[in-house]
Parts: sequence; structure tokens; C-alpha cells
Amino acid sequence: MTTATSKGLEGIIAGDTQICSVAQGDLIYRGYEIHDLAANATFDEVAHLLLVGHKPDAKELQFFRDELIANRALPTQVIDYLRAAKPMLKEGTCVPMDALRTAVSILGNLDKDSQDNSPEANLRKAKRLTAKIPTIIGHMQNIIDGKELIAPNTGGNAKLSHAANMLYLMTGEKPSPEATKTVDVSLTLYAEHDYNASTFTCRVICATLSDMHGAVTGGIAALKGPLHGGANEAAMDMLAEIRKDIGPDNDPAKIEAWMHQAFKDKRKLMGFGHRVYKNGDHRAPILHALGRKTAEQKGAEFVKLFELGEKVQQIMLDEKNIHPNVDFPCGMTYYTMGIPVPQYTPIFVAARVTGWCAHIMEQHANNRLIRPIATYTGPALKKWND
Ligand code: SDX
Repeated sequence: MTTATSKGLEGIIAGDTQICSVAQGDLIYRGYEIHDLAANATFDEVAHLLLVGHKPDAKELQFFRDELIANRALPTQVIDYLRAAKPMLKEGTCVPMDALRTAVSILGNLDKDSQDNSPEANLRKAKRLTAKIPTIIGHMQNIIDGKELIAPNTGGNAKLSHAANMLYLMTGEKPSPEATKTVDVSLTLYAEHDYNASTFTCRVICATLSDMHGAVTGGIAALKGPLHGGANEAAMDMLAEIRKDIGPDNDPAKIEAWMHQAFKDKRKLMGFGHRVYKNGDHRAPILHALGRKTAEQKGAEFVKLFELGEKVQQIMLDEKNIHPNVDFPCGMTYYTMGIPVPQYTPIFVAARVTGWCAHIMEQHANNRLIRPIATYTGPALKKWND
């Protein structure tokens, strides 16, 4: 039995999957390439592809959409928790990713299929989670804003698509077609990425034959970290820090000086680098183009943000040969759309829950406990009573 070892399991093949291929050449979801999906599929269709396993025909898509719409509303126990979380969110001991994690855990406590890992029950739970996570985000934002919940009985507006309804739940306004398209594509780009840290977390948890809600709760905890999904918030925080430090004019010399200081301080610049993609993340240019278009519609302040980001990107590439990952354009794009920064990673969850659940179903369908070994580097053997 080969026993390869590598810090952070870099380069280790920990299994196989029929769901996604992540390579410098292509990013593929069940045979469809990411540029094709971003240009031609909606997130609801991608969610069906990942969860049900194939591209839906018109009838299947309508049925799937109706199922999600019928399951958007939250149980009162989850709404009660979100209200109770308000002081914790205000205090900062709890951030939206934490509140989302707890809310998903409560959904598990209430789900009639919670203890059933059969393929049928898992698919029902996956659809309920996909339907409800945008509602948790929306209601949480209403509570943070001190506003009445928007459409608590239905979980939104049945006439709106999945992506549009999530924006509507957060603001109470129906989003423009452009804003809907931008968020819808961002959800497709974020939906799935083979054995990334949070997905692998889900697979380790469910490989013990634990349940889907427990695994997704673990996935949310893993995704929160700024080395992973939390980077989209951290990237926007970093750009705001640069803006504060150098002033409003994008002076190239000041940006360079800021970056060189960051290099000197050995700072990890958020939204850059990737464990697998060393020559660029396929998703980043797609989202950057959409976000920049949004910025051009929104006005000069937002165009200047993208110009600052493009200058930072250029320096990272020229001096470190490090490319942006999808989280860098995401931060600028969601900021331009007026989405509150602490909701960026929860929105990542709203997309990635489809990938996580696809992997959980795949693991349960052909399971073996995931249990690597470790090399012991502790003290030599000694006697307790010596
Ligand atoms: C996501 O795995 C996935 O697929 C994840 C994801 C998905 O869809 O699920 O794509 C989503 O998590 C994207 C990544 C988001 N994280 C960040 O943007 C955080 C900043 N990035 C880095 O922390 C880092 O690039 C990682 C964590 C993403 C990857 O780290 P690795 O593979 O462990 O690489 P490393 O840290 O060993 O870096 C190699 C070298 C180091 O230089 P040396 O110490 O060898 O001189 O590159 C440098 C690093 O210092 N480096 C960076 C850097 N990323 C790597 N230097 C400055 N800023 C960075 N962002």
C-alpha cells in the first residue's frame, strides 16, 4: 500500500469523483466546461445538473424550480434563532457565516429525513437546503438592518429566479436583469470545485455515515476560513485598506509602495493564489468581466475600485507570478452591487451547497471511511513510572 505524504495533502489523490474536474486545462462539472455553463446555463440548471446528475429538460427544470420555490420558507425555530443571534452579530462574537452554520444545523434538527442517508432522502434534503439557504441569508440581513422580514411565509417571490429571489430577500427590491445575471453566474462559478477543503470536509464527515446536515454544517465551518471561501470578504477588506491608506486617486506609485510593504511583511494577499491553479483560475476572468460591466453602469467610484484591483493584480503577476482566484473579482463585484461584505461568503455557501450535497450523495452511494495515517514525530517511548 503506497504511503505518500505531503503537507496539506498537496498533490495527493484522495479519491475519484464523477462530479467535477479541476485542472489548469479545464474546469468541468459533469462533462460541461465552466465557460459554457457560465454563458449558457442558469444556476437552477447547474444545481439540477449537480444534484440530480444530468442537464434538465424543460419539464424537469420547471419541476425542480417549483420544488425549490415550495421549500424556500424557513421554520419558525430558525427565524427565532436568527432574531436571537442579532446581539451576537452586533457584538461581533458571531459573524453571518457562524449564524448560517447554526441555522443549517437547526434545519437538520427539524428535517423529517435527518437520520435517513438513503439516496432518495439525501436528494430531498439537498433540495431543501439549496432552497432555504438564500432565505436564511435574506432574513438574517433584514434582522441585521433592523427591518421587518421580507416574505417570511413564502421565502420570497415565487415569480423570481433562485438568484433574483436571494437579492430580493436581502433588500426588498426586485433586482435588475443585469444584477440577476451577475449573481446567477457567480453562483454557477462558485457551485462546485472537486476535493477543495470544504467539500473534502463534507466527504470526511459523511464517510463515517453521519448525515447530510452535519456534513454541510462542517462544510460551512471550513469555507469560512480566509484561506478558503472567506477570501472573498477578506479581498474586499484588503482593497478597502489600500483605498484608506493611499487615498482616492489610484496613484500607481502609492499602490506599488503599499504592495511592496505587504511583500516585505510577508502578507498573504487575499483573493490571490490557488492550490491547483498556478496559471490562473478559469473563473476569475469570467466574474471580473461581469463585475467591471456592472461597475461601468454604476459609476466612476466603482470603476476606480476595479482599476485599483487591476493594478494590484498586475503587480502580483509581474512581481510574484501569482494570479487572482475567483474570490478577488467576487469581492469587487459584490461590493459594486451593494451586497454587505459579511454576506459574500454566505452567498458562496448558497452556491457551494449544491456541490457539497452532490459529493455527500456520491460518498454515501459508494462509501469507505476516510482515515489517512500520520508520521509520529513525538517523544521516544518511555515508562510512566520512570
Ligand atoms: C478558494 O481548493 C479550491 O478549489 C478552493 C476554491 C474553491 O472553489 O473551493 O478555489 C476557493 O478557497 C480559493 C482560494 C482563496 N484563498 C485566498 O485567496 C487566500 C490567499 N491565498 C493563499 O493563502 C494561498 O494561495 C492558498 C491558500 C489559496 C493556496 O495556498 P498553497 O497552495 O498552500 O500555497 P502556499 O501558501 O504554499 O504558497 C506558495 C508560495 C508561498 O511562497 P513561499 O513561502 O514558498 O516563498 O506562494 C506564496 C506563498 O507565500 N503565496 C502568496 C499567496 N498565495 C501564495 N503570497 C502572497 N499572497 C498570496 N495570496
